[in-house]
Amino acid sequence: MCDELGGLICRAIWFILPAYVANASPVILGGGRAVDGGKKMRDGRPIFGPGKTIRGIVGGMAAGTVTGIIQALLTSSSQYILVAILLSAGALIGDLLGSFIKRRLNIPRGGAAPLLDQLGFVIFAILIASPFMFPGWEAVVIIMLITPPLHLATNFIGYKMGVKSRPY
Ligand code: CTP
Ligand code: MG
Repeated sequence: MCDELGGLICRAIWFILPAYVANASPVILGGGRAVDGGKKMRDGRPIFGPGKTIRGIVGGMAAGTVTGIIQALLTSSSQYILVAILLSAGALIGDLLGSFIKRRLNIPRGGAAPLLDQLGFVIFAILIASPFMFPGWEAVVIIMLITPPLHLATNFIGYKMGVKSRPY
């Protein structure tokens, strides 16, 4: 699908797409009960915080998996479904881990943690998916370079559309 335009950049985005969808969709699909149930750690701060919800995790898994099903249908290769499940789980776990680290560093819910916010989820997604499908180091480098600006741009659009409370 990426033969002409872009080549490597197109293949990198195609590979990581389910992780992007799993990371972005909780902004719309999330809400309600927090994953940590409002519990706090001994440092007096939340485990993950109220920005990580069960509906966000379930919705992110579903949206990321649907992305993989569409990729599988478009290319007639069913392996994309398992890759999408792994990428979605990795992205959501990486995002949770990011919030855990932010809370330990005393950064409040919604506070900015440069690079961790933009790259944590994608690094974890690639790690978890890589035993099954590794896109190659060139693609990994491209993903690391394009994800932070893409993430910031998407968040800014979400903010302008009124679905996100902060522009970053
Ligand atoms: N969201 C959710 N469940 C998740 C991840 C995100 O419901 N597992 C929703 C929340 O409404 C969250 C929004 O998507 O506020 C934006 O996600 P994110 O930027 O990751 O969360 P923050 O609110 O910034 O919280 P944190 O500081 O913990 O990253
Ligand atoms: Mg945030």
